[in-house]
Amino acid sequence: MKKIIDFYSNTNHFINDAIDRIVVEIHLKKQRDGYKKFMISGCEPGVGTTTIAINLAISMAQSGWKTILIDGDLRKITKYKRLNDELDLGLSDYLAGESLYPQTVYDTNHKNLFYLPSGSKTVNPISLLCSVKVDEVLDQLCKDYDYVIMDMPSITTSVDANVIASKMDGVILVTEYAKTDLSSVRESWDILNKSGGNIAGIILNKINTAEYGHIKKNFDYYKNQRYINKRSKSKSKMTI
Ligand SMILES: Nc1ncnc2c1ncn2[C@@H]1O[C@H](COP(=O)(O)OP(=O)(O)OP(=O)(O)O)[C@@H](O)[C@H]1O
Ligand SMILES: [Mg+2]
Repeated sequence: MKKIIDFYSNTNHFINDAIDRIVVEIHLKKQRDGYKKFMISGCEPGVGTTTIAINLAISMAQSGWKTILIDGDLRKITKYKRLNDELDLGLSDYLAGESLYPQTVYDTNHKNLFYLPSGSKTVNPISLLCSVKVDEVLDQLCKDYDYVIMDMPSITTSVDANVIASKMDGVILVTEYAKTDLSSVRESWDILNKSGGNIAGIILNKINTAEYGHIKKNFDYYKNQRYINKRSKSKSKMTI
């Protein structure tokens, strides 16, 4: 029997609320423009791209959308992978012609959520990512799933994300608070534009919550006492 991948769910409701806002944006893009395939990549390595991709995919699946998360980072060795340290078959094996597409897709512990790991072949990722089989598998995934989320290495560390960008409906760029500077955003933006990527949005991750308190001040409105207090006050004032 095939392994079931365990996706760790975030329990921080501030983060979940922020992720839900991205889900809504993505859903609107689908309704308005028919977007289904999204690439997520960082301006720099380590900004939290994979973390966001995982949480986004979970949230979309929880909303009832049949979602597949693809690990498109063919360079990172298995040992450092977040989800698939024991999986051998994946995208690179399919692209190298050594396995069939359905064999490389795994079930997860979340309903509606599926996972396509990066695979075992790490030699020459570019030749694999440039192959016509990438287009074929993406077309098939769009038929089989409501949403396809592809997690890629950062724009400025390799050309892998540039190759994939133009094949996707939208690109989501991740930046990190107090780390990513404007020149890095401009550089990534230019690279993506030149490679035909359609930037759907930019995420500012790892914000300093003390400094950005005003942004999240209403994020937990329904979970904190404010809502309950407000409800009981307005009830006591009601007259018929
Ligand atoms: N919002 C956040 N708040 C705090 N820590 C975070 C946040 N997002 C990600 N991290 C942490 O940052 C580290 C890097 O995250 P992640 O692996 O998702 O980054 P990445 O951009 O995908 O990295 P890489 O370029 O190596 O693929 C991890 O330890 C992760 O737990
Ligand atoms: Mg990553």
